[in-house]
Amino acid sequence: MRHLIEPEDLDLEEIKQLVNVGIDMFENPKDYAKVCEGKILASLFFEPSTRTKFSFDSAMYRLGGNVIGFSDAETTSAKKGESLADTIRVMGYYADIVVMRHPKEGAPKLASQYSSVPIINGGDGGHQHPTQTLTDLITIQKYKGRIDGHNVAFCGDLKYGRTVHSLIRTLARFGSKKFYLVSPEELQLPDSLKRQLIERYGVELVEVHFIEEVIEEIDILYMTRIQKERFFNEADYLKLKDSFKLTRDKLKPAKPDMIVMHPLPRVNEIGYDVDEDPRAIYFEQSQLGVYIRMALISKLLEVGPYARG
Ligand code: CP
Repeated sequence: MRHLIEPEDLDLEEIKQLVNVGIDMFENPKDYAKVCEGKILASLFFEPSTRTKFSFDSAMYRLGGNVIGFSDAETTSAKKGESLADTIRVMGYYADIVVMRHPKEGAPKLASQYSSVPIINGGDGGHQHPTQTLTDLITIQKYKGRIDGHNVAFCGDLKYGRTVHSLIRTLARFGSKKFYLVSPEELQLPDSLKRQLIERYGVELVEVHFIEEVIEEIDILYMTRIQKERFFNEADYLKLKDSFKLTRDKLKPAKPDMIVMHPLPRVNEIGYDVDEDPRAIYFEQSQLGVYIRMALISKLLEVGPYARG
């Protein structure tokens, strides 16, 4: 039995195959409409979500399966003090696969140690978001023709942004050697992650303070939200929340085939007028999240294109 707790749980060949299967599911959805018939996904969200929760639900329904779960743990026996370990043990009797989001870093890893069914990490605190990374990679493959070899800039909250932490490491595994980091001092990529990228993968990190400094050179601009829920006090949040906003003017010098990605939700870090620019593909990115999750569910359940024998 396999779990997906962090992107490193998949090797590069498996990731490429998931991306290819996901693209085929996007192009030929009817071919996969029954591969999860009789299977149940438990969707356990201890923290708010729109895309991750509902794209997993949609993925399972599009595969012909069913979904149970919650998006407010206050309505469950966690409220009475039940441990995560006990909740997960019981879920193994009710579902064939579990996706969970939790505010505590490491909670999905803990759950996997007590689970009799595959666990998928739908985001744990500021730590990892592996299915967003898969969503990002299918998007890069579809819009740029390949995963590796692009000039990528990450912009916004690089300290707490789990989507950045998962994606930058995975792109480094795929061989990317240089990243541009655009963030305020307070929200820079954690030192431990910087060290890992430099020492393990030989990556060069170029830190700048403004999008304008790099916009002409890059192939992919990965925007992120300044996350209010990750701050300890509101004053710090208010001080930084309007930093690093992408506007139509700032996009003007960018390459015509550059793409703007964002895991969403956005608050105000991308102006609404940017949505009309063909380089803004963040809504298409969230759509592709359904199909890569269909591929992932199929893989972990060993059904459809991943059926044994
Ligand atoms: N990208 C993402 O994780 O969005 P949600 O928080 O809405 O799931």
